[in-house]
Amino acid sequence: MQKKALWSGRFAGSTAEKMQQFSQSLDTDWSFFREDIAGSRAHGAMLFKMGLLSKEEQEKIDHALWEIEQEIEKGEFEPDIALEDVHMNIESRLIEKLGPMGAKIHTGRSRNDQVATDYRLFMKKRIHEVLRQQKSLLESLLKRAESDIDIILPGFTHLQHAQPISLGHFWMAYFWKYSRDLTRMMTAFDQTDQNPLGAGALAGTTLPIDRHCTAQALGFSSVTENSLDTVSDRDYLLEFLFASSTFMLHVSRLCEDLILWNTQEFDFIELPDGYCTGSSMMPNKKNPDALELMRGKTSGVVASMQDLMMNLKGLPLTYNRDLQEDKRPVFLTLKTMGEVLGILPDLLGGVQMKPDSIQPHLEKGFLLATDVAEYLVSKGVPFRETHHIVGQVVQYCLAEKKDFQDLSLEEWRQFNASVEKDLLPLLNVEAAVDRRKSFGGTARSDVKRQIEAGWSVLARLT
Ligand code: ARG
Repeated sequence: MQKKALWSGRFAGSTAEKMQQFSQSLDTDWSFFREDIAGSRAHGAMLFKMGLLSKEEQEKIDHALWEIEQEIEKGEFEPDIALEDVHMNIESRLIEKLGPMGAKIHTGRSRNDQVATDYRLFMKKRIHEVLRQQKSLLESLLKRAESDIDIILPGFTHLQHAQPISLGHFWMAYFWKYSRDLTRMMTAFDQTDQNPLGAGALAGTTLPIDRHCTAQALGFSSVTENSLDTVSDRDYLLEFLFASSTFMLHVSRLCEDLILWNTQEFDFIELPDGYCTGSSMMPNKKNPDALELMRGKTSGVVASMQDLMMNLKGLPLTYNRDLQEDKRPVFLTLKTMGEVLGILPDLLGGVQMKPDSIQPHLEKGFLLATDVAEYLVSKGVPFRETHHIVGQVVQYCLAEKKDFQDLSLEEWRQFNASVEKDLLPLLNVEAAVDRRKSFGGTARSDVKRQIEAGWSVLARLT
């Protein structure tokens, strides 16, 4: 026999079968079963404390809820779409087990505050896991920065050779980006960590409930202030989607850098075989698919944020069924975040640098031009003039097919008389890197400082 919806009293007719399929949210919210049961057990304990359940009732309800959880864990409980969602499936089962006593659990609450409670509890766990994975990504970047600090490569602006940098500096650039993403994720956690239970359908309840008591039992740090706000609010999910979006944008940029470095044209790195795939036709191919997929999956995460924003945009207070659609974007994002964070630290650990093939790139593009300009500044020439002078030296070298290192002191002095022989030892990339000692610059001494600061950031997080 088809199960009756818990709200069927108001209806003479039954729900169309197509409507049941359309309306159910079990395909997503069934994964809230543990949180739904935890929420009900805390609610039951609070109802007893407030005199709304007897001790016996509370104990029987609590035990039955525990049994239902076991049934679900063992795969013995098949949810029914006629009962729409996780909340009504579990409540119906409770009533099936305990009769009218089970029907008391919904006292002073609604599915509107129940779904908010389940979702927040669920997200707290999932964000916790994301944070843990984000920390291990940070750790793998710090390790790479430490071991690659002595590798020097061209730094780019406009994808043109600009100035030499330490590879440690490059990895640390992403370290700082991801550490800010982690901070944003912690903010998302804090926003999530508030108890919605007891907001009722929208306006609270006439019954004497204690929302602080359920907050404590469920491990929420605080209680939401306004019931209308509570059942209509999903911006804590937006915080998560935003923190995930900025993270994925940063992942996508790192992937793009590595994809470029992996081309024949750059040839800076060898990617680990485990994260590449071949071509079905061209036997020569080794493609950077993991990196491309991460770059590609970024769009889904950013679109998820747009998805939920669009959902919320025109909604009048308070709960509207549109809000049930809040799960798709977040679930998609959780899946992508889990996959990406599962792969990225391993992949980064497996990237092999190719210093020999980086070397010729350091000789192209007059990477030391700014160094010469700044050298002239140290001799008292105003920077704007030095910029022009070195521009002319570059022009001269291009015409003569020479590099800076090939120029004699006399040739240099034709451009500016203040050049002396102390310029010559500066004309190498190692010196160029190490002289950039300004705070946050690429000098290895400063990169070491950054790495130390990075480790203490990490230590504070754990
Ligand atoms: N399945 C619903 C959701 O996920 C639960 C809340 C239903 N509330 C209601 N008034 N129909 O949003």
